[in-house]
Amino acid sequence: MVSILVVDDEAPNRDALERIFAREGWNVRTACDGREALDVLRDADVGVILTDLKMPGMDGMELLRAARHVAPDVPVILATAYGTVDVAVGAMKEGAWDFVAKPLRRAEVVASVQRALEQHRLAAENRVLRAEVAGQQADAMVGRSDAMRLLLDEARQVAGSVATVLLTGESGTGKGTLARWIHTHSARSAARLVTVNCGAIPDALLESELFGYEPGAFTGAVGRKEGRFDAAAGGTLFLDEVTELPAALQVKLLRVLQDGEYERLGGTRTLKADVRILAATNRDPEREVADGRLRADLYYRLNVIRLDVPPLRGRRADIPALARTLVGRHAARHGRPVAGIDADAMALLEGYAWPGNVRELENALERAVVLARGTHVAAGDLPPAVRHATPSVPDTPDSLRFSPGTPLAIVERRMIEATLAQCDGDRSLAANLLGIAARTIYRREAEWRAGRDDETTG
Ligand SMILES: Nc1ncnc2c1ncn2[C@@H]1O[C@H](COP(=O)(O)OP(=O)(O)OP(=O)(O)O)[C@@H](O)[C@H]1O
Ligand SMILES: [Mg+2]
Repeated sequence: MVSILVVDDEAPNRDALERIFAREGWNVRTACDGREALDVLRDADVGVILTDLKMPGMDGMELLRAARHVAPDVPVILATAYGTVDVAVGAMKEGAWDFVAKPLRRAEVVASVQRALEQHRLAAENRVLRAEVAGQQADAMVGRSDAMRLLLDEARQVAGSVATVLLTGESGTGKGTLARWIHTHSARSAARLVTVNCGAIPDALLESELFGYEPGAFTGAVGRKEGRFDAAAGGTLFLDEVTELPAALQVKLLRVLQDGEYERLGGTRTLKADVRILAATNRDPEREVADGRLRADLYYRLNVIRLDVPPLRGRRADIPALARTLVGRHAARHGRPVAGIDADAMALLEGYAWPGNVRELENALERAVVLARGTHVAAGDLPPAVRHATPSVPDTPDSLRFSPGTPLAIVERRMIEATLAQCDGDRSLAANLLGIAARTIYRREAEWRAGRDDETTG
């Protein structure tokens, strides 16, 4: 729980304020000058600072300036004696949140602190949203589970090469997202990523779509048309649903992969393809080969490097971070003031099986963001299927399987997160179970939030 930091050099004033705030049920920390206040600010979760203006040593104005640096999101309220209103106005220009006149009146102080706490909460939520929107723009792939970390490590290694990569995985797991991530992390990122959904374009058009045509190639082919291979020159061509390619085009694609050559439809000139090819399928490619739908030689060429994106139910540790990212994305898109997900709703999200994987999660949360009446997605905003699912009993989640040599900071974080999830976010209960102070959990969470940019790879 956040604290109110009361700074005054006179003990009776501090005590009086402490009593007033305690009656409101607020946590209070005190300091007798600016320097001591900064120490508290550094290691406690302070939501608002109420400081006297005149103090020996570091006074209220100096504290205000220092606090801007140490904790820019913590509102500062100055207590000023009558006759120093111009000082107070100057303080507002320096970034003070409010000022209250001395002698202090209880109702006025409480109201001011209340508004400041609300401001602090919104600022924190906005910061989360901004970070998430920024992450989304950088095409972040959320991946905290061991499975996704491993996958992203592999992806990072192959991103730099020109090797063909085959992405497999159930529908909605994030193959398209991973393809974009690889392109963004490749040496070709300045050039284009061109996507062709081989399953969505009618067979009759697919060849000219991919390779282009020359004038007179067929009735109606007036000018020359460039294909997607031309469009992707210097960049990356992403062939989605690649197993849907008709047999004739499989041959043509194989030739590009083997010799880097192709011809436009109706053309005689042989063109050189300068593209890096990524391909994806939600089918089992070996099965497609066995059933004669995918040429074996093409399969071997595509399958140089294989990245298999696991289903969401196999990496539940990703759900909270994914859910928060997706809420941020859709809150921004729909202009809705939804900043997060409450504990009940999160527990439901983590317990559901997600047969439609991340796409289903995204659809559920987009709907929830639009429906939400509060600032947080609540259980009632989720689709019935998610609300009424019987939660599967988790065995040891993969996030809690450690190998020797795992940094303790990681072990500690995963254990705290898993315990919190189990306790529906109840910090004091989790702290009791873990045998640590609740304060430690809050502090860790603040640290993780501060370092959240490192958490999304993007
Ligand atoms: N790791 C991730 N981080 C953030 N967003 C993700 C992640 N994985 C998937 N998504 C989001 O989930 C949605 C579905 O992902 P995507 O389209 O990449 O899946 P897919 O495997 O290509 O699905 P399909 O097989 O149906 O084509 C997208 O909106 C994407 O932004
Ligand atoms: Mg896709």
